[in-house]
Amino acid sequence: MKYRRILLKLSGESLMGDKQFGIDNQRLSVYAEQIKEIHDLGAEVAIVIGGGNIFRGVQAEEGGMDRTHGDYMGMLATMINSMALQAALESAGLQTRLQSAIEMKEISEPYVRRRAVRHLEKGRVVIFGAGTGNPYFTTDSAASLRAIEINADVILKGTRVDGIYTADPEKDPTATKFDVITFEDAYSRGLKVMDMTAFTLCMENDLPIIVFDMDSPGNLKRLMDGEQVGTIVRN
Ligand code: GTP
Repeated sequence: MKYRRILLKLSGESLMGDKQFGIDNQRLSVYAEQIKEIHDLGAEVAIVIGGGNIFRGVQAEEGGMDRTHGDYMGMLATMINSMALQAALESAGLQTRLQSAIEMKEISEPYVRRRAVRHLEKGRVVIFGAGTGNPYFTTDSAASLRAIEINADVILKGTRVDGIYTADPEKDPTATKFDVITFEDAYSRGLKVMDMTAFTLCMENDLPIIVFDMDSPGNLKRLMDGEQVGTIVRN
Protein backbone atom coordinates (compact mmCIF):
# COMPACT_ATOMS: atom_id res chain seq x y z
CA MET A 1 0.00 0.00 0.00
CA LYS A 2 1.47 3.28 -1.07
CA TYR A 3 -0.78 5.23 1.30
CA ARG A 4 -1.83 4.17 4.75
CA ARG A 5 -4.60 6.60 5.60
CA ILE A 6 -6.62 8.12 2.81
CA LEU A 7 -9.50 10.49 2.44
CA LEU A 8 -11.63 9.44 -0.50
CA LYS A 9 -13.81 12.18 -1.96
CA LEU A 10 -16.70 10.83 -3.98
CA SER A 11 -18.98 12.90 -6.16
CA GLY A 12 -22.68 12.83 -5.40
CA GLU A 13 -23.43 13.12 -9.09
CA SER A 14 -21.54 9.92 -9.84
CA LEU A 15 -23.93 8.08 -7.54
CA MET A 16 -26.68 8.64 -10.09
CA GLY A 17 -25.03 6.18 -12.45
CA ASP A 18 -27.18 6.24 -15.59
CA LYS A 19 -30.16 7.68 -13.76
CA GLN A 20 -31.27 11.31 -13.99
CA PHE A 21 -31.64 11.77 -10.27
CA GLY A 22 -31.03 10.06 -6.94
CA ILE A 23 -28.98 7.01 -6.19
CA ASP A 24 -28.14 4.06 -8.39
CA ASN A 25 -27.74 1.01 -6.14
CA GLN A 26 -25.57 -0.73 -8.67
CA ARG A 27 -23.07 2.14 -8.70
CA LEU A 28 -23.14 2.26 -4.93
CA SER A 29 -22.25 -1.40 -4.59
CA VAL A 30 -19.46 -1.12 -7.17
CA TYR A 31 -17.98 1.69 -5.07
CA ALA A 32 -18.40 -0.34 -1.89
CA GLU A 33 -16.58 -3.34 -3.38
CA GLN A 34 -13.67 -1.20 -4.45
CA ILE A 35 -13.42 0.42 -1.05
CA LYS A 36 -13.53 -2.99 0.60
CA GLU A 37 -10.71 -4.16 -1.62
CA ILE A 38 -8.30 -1.49 -0.41
CA HIS A 39 -9.52 -1.71 3.15
CA ASP A 40 -8.79 -5.45 3.17
CA LEU A 41 -5.23 -4.65 2.15
CA GLY A 42 -4.83 -2.52 5.26
CA ALA A 43 -5.76 1.00 4.20
CA GLU A 44 -7.49 3.28 6.68
CA VAL A 45 -10.33 4.86 4.77
CA ALA A 46 -12.27 8.04 5.48
CA ILE A 47 -14.85 9.28 2.99
CA VAL A 48 -16.56 12.52 2.11
CA ILE A 49 -19.32 12.41 -0.46
CA GLY A 50 -21.04 15.28 -2.25
CA GLY A 51 -24.77 15.83 -2.61
CA GLY A 52 -25.14 17.10 -6.17
CA ASN A 53 -27.33 14.18 -7.24
CA ILE A 54 -29.96 15.40 -4.81
CA PHE A 55 -29.53 19.10 -4.26
CA ARG A 56 -27.11 21.90 -5.16
CA GLY A 57 -26.97 25.05 -3.06
CA VAL A 58 -25.52 27.14 -5.88
CA GLN A 59 -28.42 26.35 -8.23
CA ALA A 60 -30.93 27.13 -5.50
CA GLU A 61 -29.46 30.63 -5.32
CA GLU A 62 -29.99 31.05 -9.07
CA GLY A 63 -33.65 30.24 -8.45
CA GLY A 64 -33.90 33.07 -5.94
CA MET A 65 -33.30 31.12 -2.73
CA ASP A 66 -30.97 32.51 -0.13
CA ARG A 67 -27.51 30.95 -0.66
CA THR A 68 -27.11 30.02 2.98
CA HIS A 69 -30.44 28.23 3.02
CA GLY A 70 -29.56 26.33 -0.14
CA ASP A 71 -26.17 25.34 1.23
CA TYR A 72 -27.75 23.84 4.35
CA MET A 73 -30.11 21.85 2.14
CA GLY A 74 -27.03 20.65 0.23
CA MET A 75 -25.47 19.51 3.51
CA LEU A 76 -28.55 17.45 4.22
CA ALA A 77 -28.25 15.95 0.74
CA THR A 78 -24.73 14.76 1.61
CA MET A 79 -26.18 13.04 4.68
CA ILE A 80 -28.60 11.07 2.50
CA ASN A 81 -25.72 9.94 0.29
CA SER A 82 -23.54 9.21 3.31
CA MET A 83 -26.23 6.99 4.80
CA ALA A 84 -26.72 5.19 1.48
CA LEU A 85 -22.98 4.64 1.21
CA GLN A 86 -22.78 3.48 4.81
CA ALA A 87 -25.44 0.85 4.14
CA ALA A 88 -23.66 -0.31 0.98
CA LEU A 89 -20.32 -0.57 2.78
CA GLU A 90 -21.91 -2.60 5.56
CA SER A 91 -23.54 -4.91 3.02
CA ALA A 92 -20.06 -5.45 1.61
CA GLY A 93 -18.95 -6.55 5.08
CA LEU A 94 -17.17 -3.44 6.32
CA GLN A 95 -17.57 -1.78 9.68
CA THR A 96 -18.47 1.87 9.38
CA ARG A 97 -19.12 4.96 11.43
CA LEU A 98 -20.91 8.04 10.15
CA GLN A 99 -20.10 11.42 11.67
CA SER A 100 -22.06 14.53 10.86
CA ALA A 101 -20.88 18.13 11.01
CA ILE A 102 -24.45 19.12 11.90
CA GLU A 103 -25.84 17.37 14.93
CA MET A 104 -28.34 14.65 13.98
CA LYS A 105 -27.83 12.37 16.89
CA GLU A 106 -30.57 9.90 16.03
CA ILE A 107 -28.87 8.90 12.79
CA SER A 108 -25.22 9.80 13.16
CA GLU A 109 -22.43 10.43 15.59
CA PRO A 110 -21.39 14.04 15.88
CA TYR A 111 -18.06 14.91 14.27
CA VAL A 112 -15.34 14.40 16.88
CA ARG A 113 -11.85 14.38 15.43
CA ARG A 114 -10.24 12.18 18.06
CA ARG A 115 -13.04 9.69 17.80
CA ALA A 116 -12.82 9.59 14.02
CA VAL A 117 -9.12 8.80 14.26
CA ARG A 118 -9.79 6.07 16.80
CA HIS A 119 -12.41 4.51 14.51
CA LEU A 120 -9.89 4.49 11.67
CA GLU A 121 -7.29 2.84 13.88
CA LYS A 122 -9.83 0.15 14.69
CA GLY A 123 -10.42 -0.54 11.03
CA ARG A 124 -13.75 1.18 10.63
CA VAL A 125 -14.50 3.16 7.53
CA VAL A 126 -15.45 6.66 8.64
CA ILE A 127 -17.83 8.76 6.58
CA PHE A 128 -17.97 12.48 7.23
CA GLY A 129 -21.40 13.90 6.41
CA ALA A 130 -22.91 17.38 6.20
CA GLY A 131 -19.82 18.99 4.69
CA THR A 132 -18.03 21.33 7.08
CA GLY A 133 -21.36 22.28 8.65
CA ASN A 134 -20.99 25.78 7.23
CA PRO A 135 -22.53 27.47 4.21
CA TYR A 136 -20.20 28.82 1.49
CA PHE A 137 -18.00 25.73 1.70
CA THR A 138 -18.07 22.86 -0.76
CA THR A 139 -17.69 19.18 -0.02
CA ASP A 140 -14.23 19.46 -1.60
CA SER A 141 -13.39 21.92 1.18
CA ALA A 142 -14.87 19.53 3.73
CA ALA A 143 -12.75 16.72 2.29
CA SER A 144 -9.59 18.85 2.48
CA LEU A 145 -10.31 20.03 6.00
CA ARG A 146 -11.10 16.57 7.34
CA ALA A 147 -8.12 15.03 5.54
CA ILE A 148 -5.81 17.53 7.22
CA GLU A 149 -7.46 17.06 10.59
CA ILE A 150 -7.06 13.28 10.56
CA ASN A 151 -3.55 13.45 9.07
CA ALA A 152 -4.47 11.60 5.91
CA ASP A 153 -1.58 10.86 3.57
CA VAL A 154 -3.51 11.96 0.50
CA ILE A 155 -6.93 13.01 -0.82
CA LEU A 156 -8.20 10.76 -3.58
CA LYS A 157 -10.71 12.72 -5.58
CA GLY A 158 -12.83 10.30 -7.54
CA THR A 159 -14.36 11.88 -10.62
CA ARG A 160 -15.66 10.87 -14.02
CA VAL A 161 -12.53 12.10 -15.80
CA ASP A 162 -9.22 10.30 -15.49
CA GLY A 163 -7.10 13.24 -14.35
CA ILE A 164 -6.18 16.84 -15.01
CA TYR A 165 -5.64 17.96 -18.60
CA THR A 166 -4.02 21.00 -20.19
CA ALA A 167 -7.49 21.89 -21.50
CA ASP A 168 -10.95 20.36 -21.51
CA PRO A 169 -10.38 17.09 -23.42
CA GLU A 170 -14.00 17.03 -24.56
CA LYS A 171 -13.55 20.38 -26.33
CA ASP A 172 -9.89 20.36 -27.26
CA PRO A 173 -8.56 17.21 -28.97
CA THR A 174 -4.94 18.34 -28.43
CA ALA A 175 -5.38 18.39 -24.63
CA THR A 176 -2.90 16.19 -22.79
CA LYS A 177 -3.06 14.74 -19.31
CA PHE A 178 -0.66 15.51 -16.49
CA ASP A 179 0.69 12.61 -14.45
CA VAL A 180 2.10 15.02 -11.88
CA ILE A 181 1.62 18.75 -11.45
CA THR A 182 2.53 21.14 -8.64
CA PHE A 183 -0.09 23.22 -6.88
CA GLU A 184 1.69 26.33 -8.11
CA ASP A 185 1.73 25.19 -11.71
CA ALA A 186 -1.92 24.12 -11.59
CA TYR A 187 -2.82 27.53 -10.15
CA SER A 188 -0.82 29.57 -12.64
CA ARG A 189 -2.27 27.61 -15.56
CA GLY A 190 -5.77 28.19 -14.19
CA LEU A 191 -6.52 24.47 -14.06
CA LYS A 192 -9.54 23.51 -12.05
CA VAL A 193 -8.60 20.84 -9.52
CA MET A 194 -10.94 21.76 -6.66
CA ASP A 195 -12.43 25.08 -5.60
CA MET A 196 -9.89 27.59 -4.32
CA THR A 197 -10.68 27.14 -0.63
CA ALA A 198 -10.06 23.42 -0.87
CA PHE A 199 -7.06 23.86 -3.14
CA THR A 200 -5.39 26.39 -0.83
CA LEU A 201 -6.00 24.25 2.25
CA CYS A 202 -4.22 21.33 0.61
CA MET A 203 -1.37 23.44 -0.75
CA GLU A 204 -0.68 25.19 2.54
CA ASN A 205 -0.81 21.97 4.51
CA ASP A 206 1.23 19.98 2.03
CA LEU A 207 -1.50 17.46 1.36
CA PRO A 208 -1.34 15.89 -2.09
CA ILE A 209 -4.50 15.41 -4.16
CA ILE A 210 -4.93 12.65 -6.70
CA VAL A 211 -7.69 13.21 -9.25
CA PHE A 212 -8.71 9.92 -10.82
CA ASP A 213 -11.55 8.11 -12.53
CA MET A 214 -13.46 6.30 -9.81
CA ASP A 215 -15.93 4.84 -12.27
CA SER A 216 -13.39 2.43 -13.78
CA PRO A 217 -13.34 -0.46 -11.32
CA GLY A 218 -9.84 -1.40 -10.20
CA ASN A 219 -8.44 2.13 -10.42
CA LEU A 220 -8.63 2.71 -6.69
CA LYS A 221 -6.63 -0.41 -5.93
CA ARG A 222 -4.06 0.28 -8.65
CA LEU A 223 -3.58 3.73 -7.28
CA MET A 224 -3.08 2.40 -3.77
CA ASP A 225 -0.59 -0.12 -5.16
CA GLY A 226 1.46 2.83 -6.37
CA GLU A 227 0.62 2.56 -10.05
CA GLN A 228 0.33 5.69 -12.16
CA VAL A 229 -3.40 6.44 -12.17
CA GLY A 230 -4.93 9.88 -12.67
CA THR A 231 -3.05 13.07 -11.84
CA ILE A 232 -1.26 13.85 -8.61
CA VAL A 233 -1.15 17.48 -7.49
CA ARG A 234 1.51 18.24 -4.91
CA ASN A 235 3.99 20.84 -3.74
P1 GTP B 1 -15.51 2.24 20.51
O1 GTP B 1 -15.69 3.20 21.62
O2 GTP B 1 -14.17 2.35 19.89
O3 GTP B 1 -15.92 0.85 20.78
O4 GTP B 1 -16.43 2.78 19.32
P2 GTP B 1 -17.97 2.56 19.04
O5 GTP B 1 -18.29 3.46 17.91
O6 GTP B 1 -18.32 1.14 18.85
O7 GTP B 1 -18.61 3.09 20.37
P3 GTP B 1 -20.04 3.44 20.81
O8 GTP B 1 -20.41 2.41 21.80
O9 GTP B 1 -19.98 4.87 21.21
O10 GTP B 1 -20.95 3.34 19.52
C1 GTP B 1 -21.71 2.23 19.22
C2 GTP B 1 -22.59 2.56 18.04
O11 GTP B 1 -23.39 3.69 18.31
C3 GTP B 1 -21.83 2.89 16.77
O12 GTP B 1 -22.53 2.33 15.67
C4 GTP B 1 -21.89 4.39 16.68
O13 GTP B 1 -21.84 4.88 15.35
C5 GTP B 1 -23.22 4.68 17.32
N1 GTP B 1 -23.22 5.99 17.94
C6 GTP B 1 -22.32 6.52 18.78
N2 GTP B 1 -22.64 7.77 19.12
C7 GTP B 1 -23.77 8.07 18.48
C8 GTP B 1 -24.63 9.22 18.41
O14 GTP B 1 -24.40 10.25 19.00
N3 GTP B 1 -25.74 9.11 17.62
C9 GTP B 1 -26.02 7.97 16.93
N4 GTP B 1 -27.10 7.96 16.16
N5 GTP B 1 -25.25 6.89 16.97
C10 GTP B 1 -24.14 6.93 17.72
